[in-house]
Amino acid sequence: MEGSRTSYATSTTSTDVVELYDVWVKYGDVYALEGVTLSVPERDFLTVMGPNGAGKSTLLKTILGVAPLVKGKVLVFGKDPYRERKEVVKRIGYVPQRERVNESVPLRAVDVVMMGLMGDKLLPFKRNGAEEKALKVLEEVGLLEVAYRPYRELSGGQKQRVLIARALVSDPDLLLLDEPFSALDAHSTKVVADLLKKYNDKGKTIILVTHDITPVIRYTKRVALLNRRLIAVGEPLKIFTKENLVKTYGVEVPVVVQGEFCIPLVGDQHGR
Ligand SMILES: Nc1ncnc2c1ncn2[C@@H]1O[C@H](COP(=O)(O)OP(=O)(O)OP(=O)(O)O)[C@@H](O)[C@H]1O
Ligand SMILES: [Mg+2]
Repeated sequence: MEGSRTSYATSTTSTDVVELYDVWVKYGDVYALEGVTLSVPERDFLTVMGPNGAGKSTLLKTILGVAPLVKGKVLVFGKDPYRERKEVVKRIGYVPQRERVNESVPLRAVDVVMMGLMGDKLLPFKRNGAEEKALKVLEEVGLLEVAYRPYRELSGGQKQRVLIARALVSDPDLLLLDEPFSALDAHSTKVVADLLKKYNDKGKTIILVTHDITPVIRYTKRVALLNRRLIAVGEPLKIFTKENLVKTYGVEVPVVVQGEFCIPLVGDQHGR
């Protein structure tokens, strides 16, 4: 567990990319996050796990400064995303859990990826080698051959990888990925997991939400177990204790042993 902090005093020289202090988020009468205190240092690869409704997506939206914060303090790159959202989000690549790309507009895959370069400008965004950059990341996610196909005609897994490419194209310092493997087959999952490792090795900070940690078990530096409250955070080798898993999921969770790792079976691990 992180040591709890009693004050909101922060240091501008810290290398923490994300700092949450006693964060409470509430939708209507329901708290989605309760007193979460968590620091994510530069170059961390943090995998966030927890049951449905645990507040995992809400945690990412809090970092983006869009979830309804009722108490606490959020700093991303030392700035409050609720006050300086534009400044903060331009350094973040975000893959949402559910995406509404307007499919009535005949966008090609490469156009959707280029939207990741738009920032706050609507048009023109096809400047400064935008298309080349988009093609490069499409190649990295294994989709070069569908670059000029209409986005709406792609399969679910192809669309998901296009959205991952859109998050990567601006070369962000922080990547927030909300269940990016959920529609991917085993091969594509490996391609994306290896790509995340590559970006992490290049110095990017990664916060990944997933029910299945298997694809990234060797790449994850820390795991956070969340169920509205932060139950535990620590190295993947140490975090999946019976006690932590029962506290997080409310039931005993089956685990498989893979090499030195103990992996909880809480998601769709079939066929992997
Ligand atoms: N826009 C919203 N309006 C109202 N309630 C919301 C909203 N978004 C989330 N919630 C509620 O907040 C809680 C946490 O939701 P969240 O989506 O963060 O969970 P999650 O851990 O991502 O779950 P899952 O594994 O199903 O994706 C849930 O009770 C959910 O119903
Ligand atoms: Mg979610």
